[in-house]
Amino acid sequence: MIVVLDFGGQYNQLITRRIRDLGVYSELLPGSTSAEKLKELQPKGIIFSGGPGSAYAEGAPVADPAIYEMDVPILGICYGMQLLTQHFGGKVEASNHKEYGKANIQVGSDSLLYQELPKEQSVWMSHGDLIVEPPEGFETDAANPSCPVAGMSNHHRSMYGVQFHPEVRHTEYGDDVLKNFAFAICDCEGQWTMSNFVEEQVAFIQNQVADKNVLCALSGGVDSSVVAALIHRAIGDQLTCMFIDHGLLRKGEGESVMQTFAGDFNMNMVKIDAQDRFLSKLDGVSDPEEKRKIIGNEFIYLFEEEAGKLTNMDFLAQGTLYTDIIESGTDTAQTIKSHHNVGGLPEDMNLDLIEPLNTLFKDEVRQLGKELGVPDEIVWRQPFPGPGLGIRVLGEITDEKLEIVRESDAILREEIANAGLDREIWQYFTALPDMRSVGVMGDARTYDYTVGIRAVTSVDGMTSDWARIPYDVLENISTRIVNEVQHVNRVVYDITSKPPSTIEWE
Ligand code: XMP
Repeated sequence: MIVVLDFGGQYNQLITRRIRDLGVYSELLPGSTSAEKLKELQPKGIIFSGGPGSAYAEGAPVADPAIYEMDVPILGICYGMQLLTQHFGGKVEASNHKEYGKANIQVGSDSLLYQELPKEQSVWMSHGDLIVEPPEGFETDAANPSCPVAGMSNHHRSMYGVQFHPEVRHTEYGDDVLKNFAFAICDCEGQWTMSNFVEEQVAFIQNQVADKNVLCALSGGVDSSVVAALIHRAIGDQLTCMFIDHGLLRKGEGESVMQTFAGDFNMNMVKIDAQDRFLSKLDGVSDPEEKRKIIGNEFIYLFEEEAGKLTNMDFLAQGTLYTDIIESGTDTAQTIKSHHNVGGLPEDMNLDLIEPLNTLFKDEVRQLGKELGVPDEIVWRQPFPGPGLGIRVLGEITDEKLEIVRESDAILREEIANAGLDREIWQYFTALPDMRSVGVMGDARTYDYTVGIRAVTSVDGMTSDWARIPYDVLENISTRIVNEVQHVNRVVYDITSKPPSTIEWE
């Protein structure tokens, strides 16, 4: 295992990812992690990440000094290298020529980090400070005219530093540099794979749960489905999944979740039909935030109520991901919309939490799902918000409006799949604005609803662009919606990016 210590850089998660891609397990831990804690983990290597601070500034985040004495190889990246320099008495200064973006470096040593790599390399730089003098015992490995120490090392102590970012794709040999660190320097074996992960986790869960019982709130989304499949693999019938149908699901979704998990996987499923309860609570409510809160709270009350009816439950399983944990640590982002997640289930339920995905990234969860035999339609399911169609019917929610969204969305999904675009477009759905307009159908005037199509490309949902769906596909979708869905006489396509819009309309 290689531990990445987080000093606040924007690419830190990426370092962990790249290391895992080499088949070496890696975790991102706070920069303040003590040497004692690290020793328990027995890492084969430690990486100090980049960060926005200046290593020489008062109060700058530093690593526990005892880490330098652990006799474990260290690679400092950007700020991480400056920390090494500062600690061992070298000189870090503000640069009067800040370097952001592509740069070339010349490698001038036979440091193991650059083993079998060309001497001239194109790298990605992002720094305002630089090292003007490496510490005693360190040798300069690489440089360029604006960065006299772009790489340095102390071979005897197995300590290395790079000013550039090897984790970023724009760094031509970035993966090779990390590979050299992991294999040539840290002596890792590179045997971490998803099937190992399944084996490890199954043993861990069996040990943790013993003869007790686990309850899992299953929404049918990727994370909760994969968690359920993994725990089921470990403990079979000691797992019970609860699936709440709040009446705000897409067409056919409830049936498909039940078919997959109760049918194909043969899991213990408790299905709660709570459509009326949710819809009556939402009756007459049009404010988006209020709707979200009602749905989120009601979900929790109902889950608590129903879980209380099940006796002998000891654990609550949740599909918390690694990114959820990392992001909750930095809590600086403003709340644009209050997100309702099954992850927000009550804490005072007297159940112990079990979160076996909390070291995985989203695409690793997909790999895991495949490994466990979760069907493609679930593994590749696009994101679907907790409040469901409740925030895709804009304004007040009625049965009629829900039906329009459900039917139009089903047509959209079908046509996108027919056009072979379903993996390419990150998320696509229809929304129903709270408006009607005039149309003409079969010589008669109509005054009916407008359906909005939203389709976006994105990596993580934080930013997005509108998907360039070919006109003929759009035309098919529009014609089918107007012809097949009652009370719709107009279809519009949303061509705004995020920001300034958001992906959902509410
Ligand atoms: P926005 O609309 O904020 O959405 O651009 C970004 C992504 O998050 C999903 N989303 C939610 N997911 N609970 C969730 O679990 C929510 O309340 C929620 N609101 C939005 C949205 O579908 C998109 O993928």
